[in-house]
Amino acid sequence: MARESWASRVGFILAAVGSAVGLGNVWRFPWMTAEYGGSAFLVVYLCIVLLVGVPGLVAEFVIGRKSKRNPAGALARLAPGTKSWGYVGLFGVITGLVLLSFYSVVGGWILRYFAASFTGSYFAEPSAYFGRISFGAEAAAFQVAFLAVTALIVLGGVRGGIEKATKVMMPIIVVLLGVLAGWAVTQPGAGTGLSFYLDFDPTPIQNDPIGMLRAAAGQALFTLSLGVGTMITYASYLGEDNSLAFDGSVISVLNTGVGVLAGLVVFPLLFAFQGGLTEVTEGGESGAIFMGVAGAFREMPYGEVVAVGFFGAILFAALSSSISMLEIPVAYLVDEQDVSRRNATVGLTGLVLVTGTICAFNPGIFDFVASTLVDLMLTAGLAGFLVFTGWVLGKDALTEFDSGAGRIARALGTPWLWSVRTILPLFLLATLAVNLYAML
Ligand code: TRP
Repeated sequence: MARESWASRVGFILAAVGSAVGLGNVWRFPWMTAEYGGSAFLVVYLCIVLLVGVPGLVAEFVIGRKSKRNPAGALARLAPGTKSWGYVGLFGVITGLVLLSFYSVVGGWILRYFAASFTGSYFAEPSAYFGRISFGAEAAAFQVAFLAVTALIVLGGVRGGIEKATKVMMPIIVVLLGVLAGWAVTQPGAGTGLSFYLDFDPTPIQNDPIGMLRAAAGQALFTLSLGVGTMITYASYLGEDNSLAFDGSVISVLNTGVGVLAGLVVFPLLFAFQGGLTEVTEGGESGAIFMGVAGAFREMPYGEVVAVGFFGAILFAALSSSISMLEIPVAYLVDEQDVSRRNATVGLTGLVLVTGTICAFNPGIFDFVASTLVDLMLTAGLAGFLVFTGWVLGKDALTEFDSGAGRIARALGTPWLWSVRTILPLFLLATLAVNLYAML
């Protein structure tokens, strides 16, 4: 069978933005920003997105479009004679499964909150509610439901499933968040939230520069879906050659825009209706945002309506990301092992059902996977892809970069290649070392 491809350039861009925009923007980003002191974190994070994220994204695109393969097949094929690069790609394929295991648990929470928003049943006691539903049999059941929807979209294939679904979901997310943000920033009391979020105050950077850099780097990779091979896989379905640098920039800008927009919803809400971040920072890590916004919905008029829109947007964002995680191993089995898309999807979903259920029952394992393990795997993975692009592909990477590129993009090709060869892998390896050290 001929390999699948996107129907259009816009379809590819929206699918990639769909992968990038997810729980990372709406759940992890506000939580990290709150934890690391607000605006300062935002600034560091934006710098890393620009200096590391965008070039990294383009590197994954180059590998994918040049090879037209899943990550494992791509690296193996582009470096004939050496088996080891294929393993770097395979590491990405496995990371995709690890990611999906914890992501589908959070997806299950979102599904649950979305359904419960119609009646507002969690408004009264936000922390007790989250405590009740977050881990255990019910969490596992909702995780299974979320995974099932993910699998159904992936079963539909690249054009009929992923491209169609993301084309519908992305505009809805932006409209919903836009309306919510417009409303939230005009609420009395929202101003304090806005200034926490947007007024630059460098003190948190001075207090803990390394910790800040580490958290911001992890967040930047996570939010752009880097280091796993999602973007390799998506670019492998490109037909004609358009400017990868241009597409990569558009995708990064849109992703960051939605992240910032989500912040414009969450922070004003928390400050206007909850009196600040105490509930978030005291609620402890993963559940923070849920308890915070739930308390805010309780205080406002028509909270149910706002809640349905809020969790509906997040649900779509989560789904358009989870499909991109499942698509990596599916593409691997289809390309390399000659398995049909249907069997690959069903088999892998069965596998993640097991690993996801383990996460759904064990907060300890969940936390370890969601923060520590994922940060390590993404950082190591992206370092591998960059070294591969810079040193194994070398000049060929530049040729692929130039294909379809306009005049401005071409001028950026050489600096891009040099940063991919030198400073960026060094930065990632340093981050990796600091992360490992912090685990000791
Ligand atoms: N970027 C997504 C988010 O922000 C998560 C995600 C999807 C992802 N696919 C990925 C993260 C691949 C890393 C790698 O929610």
